[in-house]
Amino acid sequence: MSENKASIDPKAYMVKSEPYYEAVADEVELYGAAYNVRMPMMLKGPTGCGKSRFVEYMAWSLGKPLITVACNEDMTASDLVGRFLLDKDGTKWQDGPLTTAARMGAICYLDEVVEARQDTTVVIHPLTDHRRVLPLDKKGELVEAHPDFQLVISYNPGYQSLMKDLKQSTKQRFGGLDFDYPGEKIETQIISKESGVDQATAGKLVQIAHRARNLKGHGLDEGISTRLLVYAGQLISKGVAPVAACNMTMVTPLTDDPDMRDTLKAAVQTFFS
Ligand SMILES: Nc1ncnc2c1ncn2[C@@H]1O[C@H](COP(=O)(O)OP(=O)(O)OP(=O)(O)O)[C@@H](O)[C@H]1O
Ligand SMILES: [Mg+2]
Repeated sequence: MSENKASIDPKAYMVKSEPYYEAVADEVELYGAAYNVRMPMMLKGPTGCGKSRFVEYMAWSLGKPLITVACNEDMTASDLVGRFLLDKDGTKWQDGPLTTAARMGAICYLDEVVEARQDTTVVIHPLTDHRRVLPLDKKGELVEAHPDFQLVISYNPGYQSLMKDLKQSTKQRFGGLDFDYPGEKIETQIISKESGVDQATAGKLVQIAHRARNLKGHGLDEGISTRLLVYAGQLISKGVAPVAACNMTMVTPLTDDPDMRDTLKAAVQTFFS
């Protein structure tokens, strides 16, 4: 049986250059304090509001490797922890991303962890209390987490049904930070910086988004995300006509309902006509 511990290279997981992140409140300081005590963290907020960008920025600023796992409902505990693989020399243990992160002292970001089944999420329990260990049952090994290891999960509070939520015993292992779309001034700044459009155009995109966000729960499941505003800005700065750019990024992906589309298109027309 061969091992793959030697092949872990933290350098491969370092965030190479400073990610652009515009702080919205005191989240950078609060996260830094949580990291100092290696508190597991839960980032809550709607899609495309900056959670992943924030984690990348924090990993860069703390100088720690970052391992991100996109969770889904087909994911098993082995996908996180690892499994035996068969190769020409026999069986070989392959660490999963969570085990790799625990060994090397990375920040492990489990994106949309609620999507995973509950029997999958319980593998994080011994890592997220005073024990800080990860039992590899199939291998018969107890991995002690590196002192720098920290677990971060993201969570979109809008999407949970009662059937699909984290258990209290999972939730209560984390500190939480609420995220939301940034305020008007900061979001305008972000759109302009990320897409290259001028402040005036970015400001209009944000205004349209504010109108659409008011429709959440009144025909729209989710407001227009900061991510989609960046998309709109990118098309406009490449010369696409603003109305076409907005329809493509801020109307079509959002809803199939013809009335709702008309409402959104009218908001676009108000600002770009
Ligand atoms: N505070 C911010 N500073 C800089 N860029 C931001 C910020 N907030 C959002 N963005 C922009 O919005 C985009 C989407 O953000 P991000 O991918 O972090 O969303 P998310 O919250 O992780 O969404 P999801 O839940 O869908 O994964 C980023 O690529 C970035 O361009
Ligand atoms: Mg994300």
